[in-house]
Amino acid sequence: MTQRVLTGITTTGTLHLGNFVGAIRPAIAASRESGVESFFFMADYHALIKCDDPARIARSRLEIAATWLAAGLDTSRVTFYRQSDIPEIPELSWLLTCMTSKGQMNRAHAYKAATDANLAAGEDLDAGVTMGLYSYPILMAADILIFNAHRVPVGRDQVQHIEMARDVAQRFNHQFGGGAEFFVLPEANVEEDVAQLPGLDGRKMSKSYDNSIPLFEGGAKALKEAIARIKTDSKLPGEPKDPEGQALVTIYDAFATPQQRADFRAALRAGLAWGEAKQQLFELIEAQIAPMRERYAELMAHPERIEAILQEGAAKARRLAAPLLARAREAVGLRSFAALAPAAKAKPAKAALPVFKQYREADGQFYFKLNAADGSLLLQSQGFAEGRAAGQWVARLKREGQSALADLPLPPGLVLDAAAVVAALAALQEAEAG
Ligand code: TRP
Repeated sequence: MTQRVLTGITTTGTLHLGNFVGAIRPAIAASRESGVESFFFMADYHALIKCDDPARIARSRLEIAATWLAAGLDTSRVTFYRQSDIPEIPELSWLLTCMTSKGQMNRAHAYKAATDANLAAGEDLDAGVTMGLYSYPILMAADILIFNAHRVPVGRDQVQHIEMARDVAQRFNHQFGGGAEFFVLPEANVEEDVAQLPGLDGRKMSKSYDNSIPLFEGGAKALKEAIARIKTDSKLPGEPKDPEGQALVTIYDAFATPQQRADFRAALRAGLAWGEAKQQLFELIEAQIAPMRERYAELMAHPERIEAILQEGAAKARRLAAPLLARAREAVGLRSFAALAPAAKAKPAKAALPVFKQYREADGQFYFKLNAADGSLLLQSQGFAEGRAAGQWVARLKREGQSALADLPLPPGLVLDAAAVVAALAALQEAEAG
């Protein structure tokens, strides 16, 4: 079964070179792996917790969307959307809020940090703490669970949040899942070997340290100026230099081939001047960043194109989120009254069932699809040269359900709500059994 990988980026501020090396580049590389279905989103509801300046929020989510697209995110392969375009997320968040204990949220890192700081300052414990900050991990759990994501690549600081998401998923499964695994239990993927880029002063590159190198902002000029400010030791041109532990060299490594890394070190040991080394670093990065910067500028000049891409992403995401939320509502008891009507009760055997349909397309190939009881499309097969092959798959899926599904070849690019398909197959088997 394909693995669903999901990650969110809080949209506050502008991205720097460290975000590119530590998050964007590896995520885009991972999304190109086969057997992986990736979800990337702008956590703009989360951004509201940290920022109350509407203009900054608006600017940041636009810039971040443009950055991901410019860096090469292929939106035909991944689902790319804004959190705030998916109303199912806050709705699920409420259902989860109702089953999360306050005590557990008291222990969440971000909230703990705020109360610890208040305690140290002799303030009221909860001074300046909003309910948004307090409930942050629950919204994050909803982000993840609404798509039944298996893996969540995050930084160390987010591991606790993923554990909380697992926890609430487990509680939901136990209480409302009726024995089935309603939510997938997500796992945090902490990339140990992803470079943590040092900043100008050698500490971790971070906005809050004011030591970052801009990614696109300010163009080549700003990049060059920032690189010129990287701290080095005070060895003179011609003097041999120790490359190890130099921020300049670590940043160079993040963009270089093994051969380039070795050559750069050898040149420094042989006395390469720091000024010259900085020029080489600038050229190395600029060669990789410049084409992206151009795409970025083009996109920023056409925000309506970004909007269209994100609207498409939202539609794609909601095709998965809506049925899952519908089942979650059903599970907690928010059910349609129509189902309680005597007529509906009298003929439970007649309950609408999912249906398989087989057909032939203009391309001469044979296809089948699976529609949910409400007529919505759940699964669309690839084309088969022979009608029999399609028919055999239908028979096998009806007979074996989920285990056959794992073997079924799918048309490229098909986004499958696996949980819904599995549920439909189970309903068919159950009706068959009787
Ligand atoms: N809290 C994450 C951060 O600050 C961003 C985020 C929000 C996220 N929702 C998520 C990450 C869901 C992964 C999955 O980095």
